[in-house]
Amino acid sequence: MSPAAPFDRVAESLLAFWAEAGIDSMLLDEPLDRIEAGKFVAPKPADRKPAPPPPQAAPRGGPAADVASAVLEARRLAAQAPDLEALKAAIAGFDGCPLKFEGARQAVFARGAPDAPLLVIGEGPGAEEDARGEPFVGRAGRLLDRMLAAAGLSDRVFITNTVFWRPPGNRTPTPQEQATCLPFLERAIELVSPRMLLLVGAPSTKSMLKRSEGILSLRGRWFEWRSEAGNLELPAMPTLHPAFLLRQPGAKKKAWSDLLTLTERLDRPERGA
Ligand code: URA
Repeated sequence: MSPAAPFDRVAESLLAFWAEAGIDSMLLDEPLDRIEAGKFVAPKPADRKPAPPPPQAAPRGGPAADVASAVLEARRLAAQAPDLEALKAAIAGFDGCPLKFEGARQAVFARGAPDAPLLVIGEGPGAEEDARGEPFVGRAGRLLDRMLAAAGLSDRVFITNTVFWRPPGNRTPTPQEQATCLPFLERAIELVSPRMLLLVGAPSTKSMLKRSEGILSLRGRWFEWRSEAGNLELPAMPTLHPAFLLRQPGAKKKAWSDLLTLTERLDRPERGA
């Protein structure tokens, strides 16, 4: 970031850095009583808004049931797909993920080698991916490709995302949206049968590993990923998202070191091979 960068760009970049590191709230060092400090003026009765209605218990068949039945349907469709082409068609025809109806132009499934030893999982499609129907083809994708090429991995990857439709305004996909797409993602992992997973960014890492620590503490370490049904297990490494690296170029050396660690394991002969 140049010294002349406008304040809002600096602030945006710093906030993105904190968010990626898992910081989602700000506290002062000392408690501050805002009422005592006179900073809070209680609204006069006439100004008060009517109290909101008490929260209702989710009705049977409400949102949680919707997610559960969408997951079941996704599992059924995914299990029936004999190959990646059929899986892509099954995803495109699936109506259970609400993202499909929130402005996405098309389903964005995957690109890369169908028998790749490394499966890369990002967060979700952005604007360019939505327009072109392929994951990681925008600015962040081009950086990812350059990094994979430098590590000698270009032809050895299969690239996909935790969700297959662009979240509106590029917001982070919700855990429910990720859960709804997961059966398709797991079937893709089963069909490609890679030796390991690279989890790109915090939302992908959280969703796949069910861990709450920030990406800066998880990146570069090996974890064992296990499918929901427990029938698939693979080593998985979280790393920083290329969109984050575009905002924080100083962090590129961390991502590069992650890729080297991963490549070293990928190039090691498999035991018994
Ligand atoms: N970011 C992602 O996580 N995935 C894409 O496909 C593009 C950008």
